[in-house]
Amino acid sequence: MAIEKILVVDDDLLMRNFLTEALLRKKIEVVSVDSGEKAIALLENDSFDMVITDLKMKAVTGMEVLQKVKELSPNTLVIVITAFGTIENAVEAMKNGAFHYILKPFSWESLSAIIEKAQQYMALVQENDYLRKEVRDKGYRNKVIAESPIMKKILEDVEKIARSQANVFIQGATGTGKEVIAHLIHLLSTRVNRPYIRVNCAAVPDTLIESEFFGHEKGAFTGAINKRPGRFELADTGTLLLDEITEIPISMQPKLLRAIQEMEFERVGGSKLIKVDVRLISTSNREIKEAINEKLFREDLYYRLNVVPILLPLLRDRQEDIIPLAQHFIEQACLGNHTEKKILSADAKKKLLGYPWPGNIRELANVMERAVVLGTDKTINAGQLCL
Ligand SMILES: Nc1ncnc2c1ncn2[C@@H]1O[C@H](COP(=O)(O)OP(=O)(O)O)[C@@H](O)[C@H]1O
Ligand SMILES: [Mg+2]
Repeated sequence: MAIEKILVVDDDLLMRNFLTEALLRKKIEVVSVDSGEKAIALLENDSFDMVITDLKMKAVTGMEVLQKVKELSPNTLVIVITAFGTIENAVEAMKNGAFHYILKPFSWESLSAIIEKAQQYMALVQENDYLRKEVRDKGYRNKVIAESPIMKKILEDVEKIARSQANVFIQGATGTGKEVIAHLIHLLSTRVNRPYIRVNCAAVPDTLIESEFFGHEKGAFTGAINKRPGRFELADTGTLLLDEITEIPISMQPKLLRAIQEMEFERVGGSKLIKVDVRLISTSNREIKEAINEKLFREDLYYRLNVVPILLPLLRDRQEDIIPLAQHFIEQACLGNHTEKKILSADAKKKLLGYPWPGNIRELANVMERAVVLGTDKTINAGQLCL
């Protein structure tokens, strides 16, 4: 598959949801943002095979997003979405290098046809373009900050683990970077060109978890209007992240165990066996042994999921990472907010190093973002850190 990752830019939530849902169904990874500013900030740090952008947006328009894409990554295809009255803008966009335009309102079929066309085009372009991908993965790797000895060791392990096909279980408190490490494993693995799919087990209601994992047939239950593939199917040949796996109900666990053992399952309401090849990465913020002792999690399932364990330390136990991470988040926030790059004062650094960080890296990211947004000086001092 040539088009694997698409950035969707639209200030209309319904449109973003429609596109995301439709593209995920095509097993394409989607990142969606609600403004041109955010799109540009992302484009400067990450690469996408395609950008689908609305033309008419507040502040930064789709045309500016297009220009930026062409400047930063000329191979990325851009599709602009435009309303009937403004077709001349679409023509203008095509002249500026857009791959295609699509008129609102549009059907799934017409979008799909354009994507197919783009896939064919990309397959041609990419035949001799391994480089791009390598650059993208290196890019991600460089953004995973690990200066402390303990994290350096973990990253070394991650590189080795990534190349194997083994299932991985990542345990760590909230905000310690479990998803970051999971994604890195996928990017460094032989499955890098295949889908990377995530299920957030903590966010799916108990009654829907089976359908989320395995999909359902039309009419399988109230609300199942159409048939829908599950996450296991979407992840076929790739990697499936079972995020916060210890949150799934105990009643669901035997079915999951069977699916993992056999790599086959049925959709809810279906009788056809579906076979897949999926590498599993699971995460948990709970002490897994405790969950097993409390009979909330089946031990046999744990041993299936946990071929290789990774234990992420608390942020306070990796002191050497705190300042580099803080600087990284400042840089990101400045980029996103179009402010000039800020620096940390000595007293600010001291305050960061002395704080226990119960929310770990996520909390640090929030604190730095707030400091950037609220502060007016070039220097961030201790007073501006809301700890
Ligand atoms: N090593 C790291 N380098 C840079 N940013 C990180 C790192 N680890 C985590 N982050 C960032 O910290 C936040 C929380 O990470 P996440 O993976 O979502 O944590 P968890 O899943 O364990 O709760 C995210 O914004 C993520 O990008
Ligand atoms: Mg998480």
